[in-house]
Amino acid sequence: MSVPALEVSGVSKDFGRIIALRDVTFSVQPGEFVSILGRNGAGKTTLLNIISGVSRPSEGTVQLFGTNPSDRENKAKLAVISHEMFLYGNLTALENLEYYSRIYSVPDAQERIETVLKDVELTHRRFDLVATYSRGMTQRLTIARALLHEPSLLLLDEPFTGLDQHAIGMLITLLKRQKEMGRTILLTTHDLHTATALSDRYLVISKHKIVKDGLIVDTNPDKIRQAFFSSEVEEGVS
Ligand SMILES: Nc1ncnc2c1ncn2[C@@H]1O[C@H](COP(=O)(O)OP(=O)(O)O)[C@@H](O)[C@H]1O
Ligand SMILES: [Mg+2]
Repeated sequence: MSVPALEVSGVSKDFGRIIALRDVTFSVQPGEFVSILGRNGAGKTTLLNIISGVSRPSEGTVQLFGTNPSDRENKAKLAVISHEMFLYGNLTALENLEYYSRIYSVPDAQERIETVLKDVELTHRRFDLVATYSRGMTQRLTIARALLHEPSLLLLDEPFTGLDQHAIGMLITLLKRQKEMGRTILLTTHDLHTATALSDRYLVISKHKIVKDGLIVDTNPDKIRQAFFSSEVEEGVS
């Protein structure tokens, strides 16, 4: 087997007395599309932050393509789409993308920028300041920004939240295309339907641990639903 795209080994994370993750272990092969399911507070965002190198585990290790997440070469391979937009409101969409193209040394930047703007249907608004964008538009631009440098590994934290039906469809199409191109995708969601439709595999996090790791093809959707909802009941839905 090739070097895993991602290897999470015995990762725990505490914030003082708060437990966020307990002994999380799994690996993801290149080209796999994995959904992480779990209710609010389960530890999903904490896990993605540790994988992207934003946060350090209290215990355990993470490897991206066989090396440390904070390695410089990994920054170029990674895209993170989260609630932090990483966009400048006082710049236009085009200026934001030009800025990131320089940071990532994107080859043929103008052409690439045109492509990602078209992908997220923002070409007609490219000269407008991002501060004037609606929330959904800003989120779409975040997706364009993240895909600009053609990352090998995509980490998406609840990417469908805040998008309307049309934008959800657009993101699904984009993700399917990324998958076809052989990219590795890891996303968190509480939307079981989308997770089942898109992923090869799912992980359920409950009480800060992985309680289920299954392949979608092998698994009856009712079983996934059961695994997911039994984890909710266990924790008590608040
Ligand atoms: N920076 C932080 N400081 C203190 N507690 C945190 C911090 N980040 C997350 N937590 C806590 O860790 C637990 C897991 O949070 P999180 O990873 O955001 O869950 P999820 O994304 O699944 O909703 C929660 O109890 C949350 O309050
Ligand atoms: Mg979260």
